[in-house]
Amino acid sequence: MKILSIVGTRPNFMKIAPLVREFRKRRIRHVLVHTGQHYDREMSQLFFDQLQLPKPDVNLGIGSGTVVEQVGRILIALEKVLTDEKPDIVVVVGDVNSTFAGAFAAKQLGIPVAHVEAGLRSFDWSMPEEINRVLTDRISGYLFTTEESANRNLLNEGRSRKDIHFVGNVMIDTLLAHRREAASSTILQRLHLSGKGYGVLTLHRPSNVDTKKSLASVISIIGELQKAIPIVFPIHPRTRRSIQSFGLGPVVGKMKNLTLTPPLGYLDFLCLMDNARIVLTDSGGIQEETTALGVPCITLRKNTERPVTLSHGTNLLVSMKKGKILAAARKAMSHHQKAGRMPPLWDGKAARRIVQLLKQFIQ
Ligand code: UD1
Repeated sequence: MKILSIVGTRPNFMKIAPLVREFRKRRIRHVLVHTGQHYDREMSQLFFDQLQLPKPDVNLGIGSGTVVEQVGRILIALEKVLTDEKPDIVVVVGDVNSTFAGAFAAKQLGIPVAHVEAGLRSFDWSMPEEINRVLTDRISGYLFTTEESANRNLLNEGRSRKDIHFVGNVMIDTLLAHRREAASSTILQRLHLSGKGYGVLTLHRPSNVDTKKSLASVISIIGELQKAIPIVFPIHPRTRRSIQSFGLGPVVGKMKNLTLTPPLGYLDFLCLMDNARIVLTDSGGIQEETTALGVPCITLRKNTERPVTLSHGTNLLVSMKKGKILAAARKAMSHHQKAGRMPPLWDGKAARRIVQLLKQFIQ
């Protein structure tokens, strides 16, 4: 039995780590392919080190580009790898370009595909991730889901119940496994912060950062908020580039209570979230992580593909209007914050369930 898994971006690494651990425990032959979609040390190698991931067996080194360029380069490079390795099954995680390209190459070569984090839908086709999600699910034979909404979405799309496996959330497996270790991070001291006395901001969605109008609008909201509470803003490379090219550096530079940092490693960022009074984000994974940690989260988007974080968790989806976001943030920071609970099966055992099922499928 030989499993080949494909990763490419920062959030993929947290999702594959508990699966790799299970493969090792059960002595399953496993080939790890990194597409190289993310390549900076702090976007990739740092996560391999902190999550004790083995060095990838293959790195395709495809780097940055448009969605079409990235997918095209991955497909060409993967054809040879898959033909040489001949795995019994290919595992892809999440919704990034590397996820779809990996699934597509495998399917076209006749190799069965398993998708971890299947069925999530924002129903917003302007998001590259939504296109990746729908297409990846359509060609995956094994659909591993994290929440009930995903099961419903897949059934509504005509998928058979037998292909859908509600297993829980591998990203939360990683969070629970590292929470204690993250507690000894020195990030709060290094940034001169006190527990529950600051907010965390992350931004990288094209809809927020790729035009001057949308980025300036989010930045002006943060400008107001940082007057009420210090905000830490670890900057994604895409966002850094946009701030520079739109000439917004001086506006951000004037915000005395806003601390910019380079992208942080997994343990520092987990510690930062766990001790935050509030998190504001347009990330998918952070909506889930704040729900698991019980930290109030405001999602800076019009929609979410992870509705369980709203129904069960601490997440709030407000319209992208300044007044509404500021009001929601003030409420979340008061004693009237939303109480959350852990969604079903987010218990640290998702990877174990997935690998048990994969073994049954392949035998
Ligand atoms: C990608 C995913 C997104 C995910 C995010 C996590 C797609 C369509 N998007 O977005 O779903 O939430 O990763 O971070 O797959 N760059 C660097 N160094 C790096 C990587 C990127 O400088 O290591 C810069 C490059 O200028 C690049 C830009 O960031 O052009 C965007 O990178 P890309 O991988 O295209 O998309 P992300 O915005 O990171």
